[in-house]
Amino acid sequence: MSAANLVDQLLCENLKALQPYQSARRLFSGEGAGEKGIDGADENQPAWLNANESPFANEYTLNCASLNRYPDCQPPSVIKAYAKYAGVTPAQTLTSRGADEGIELLIRAFCTPGQDKILICPPTYGMYAISAETFNIGVEKAPLNHDFSLDLEAIKAQVGKVKLVFICSPNNPTGTDVGKQQLIQVLEAFAGKALVVVDEAYIEFTQQGSWADELANYSNLVVLRTLSKAFALAGIRCGFTLADEAVIQALLKVIAPYPVPEPVAQIAKQALSDSGLQRTRNQVAIINQQKQQLQQQLAQIPQVTLVGDTAANFILFRTGQKQALFESLVAKNILIRDQSKQLNLDNCLRITIGNDRQNKMVLSAIQQFFQQESSNS
Ligand SMILES: Cc1ncc(COP(=O)(O)O)c(C=O)c1O
Repeated sequence: MSAANLVDQLLCENLKALQPYQSARRLFSGEGAGEKGIDGADENQPAWLNANESPFANEYTLNCASLNRYPDCQPPSVIKAYAKYAGVTPAQTLTSRGADEGIELLIRAFCTPGQDKILICPPTYGMYAISAETFNIGVEKAPLNHDFSLDLEAIKAQVGKVKLVFICSPNNPTGTDVGKQQLIQVLEAFAGKALVVVDEAYIEFTQQGSWADELANYSNLVVLRTLSKAFALAGIRCGFTLADEAVIQALLKVIAPYPVPEPVAQIAKQALSDSGLQRTRNQVAIINQQKQQLQQQLAQIPQVTLVGDTAANFILFRTGQKQALFESLVAKNILIRDQSKQLNLDNCLRITIGNDRQNKMVLSAIQQFFQQESSNS
């Protein structure tokens, strides 16, 4: 029997139709970038504006003296530093291989395969549903309203039917913050029934306060965080789950024995030092300023309609010529993200804020595309 036939015979039923998450890097590989990295000044390098990464590549030092040893499961210095940064206690803090692993751990710890369900509010980050489907967990949907606020009626209708409620704020890909009063209603509706997971991957870019401050008030609140966005460390895969100590202890039952490689711990610690935090704040300010400029310039293009908001590090827009524009940008080595398959986001594209050069490149390529379109018609 061929391996392919054997796989067909053995593969879990729930995985047969599953499409893996089409991450930005799966669609366009970063391999071949060379020593300058993908943000080097090399004009031939694509402008990577498709994964909501930071354009800043910062320097770190690495001490190899203990690489022969397994690392701590939860490196105390990283846990302490992140807890201090987030204003929670170390016992309320768990670190993992990105926020993505936090999502997976929550599903594995709290949902029984073939029996339990999670709730998502699309359009939103794709990994909640994919992670659930991978473990044969059902996915209920309460789509966002047309202004991308939560549909509270639809959400409350799921009380008692789901174990986890995933709410992304600022939301990817709409860039909208979830209103505080709305979230309070969700937390209260699911009190004693389900965990409400607020994904704050983009929290550093918004003026809205973090839900980490509310952990003491809501025992069913879980907050997800990451070093992949504002901290410019998507490459090290380091995220955090903040929750009541009892929730953290449950997640520690299912986490791998050594989930945080030693180099990751060393780099995370430097990023969370006083000078690291200051650098992050400076870089966030630059990104937010660039975002405002790009947003204003895009808004002046008649064929472009801005969609949602810009509370994170990206801009979402709609255009009737979505496909042709996307392809013309790819041809110019400018990679942005097609979001048009998401619920209510037909013809929508998402641009991650890059550095000044990349932002100018994408803007002028879009302007040229529409000028050419108008002169052809
Ligand atoms: C909303 C949201 N949550 C989580 C993640 C994943 O974060 P990490 O890189 O920490 O796994 C992303 C990545 O794009 C995201 O957009």
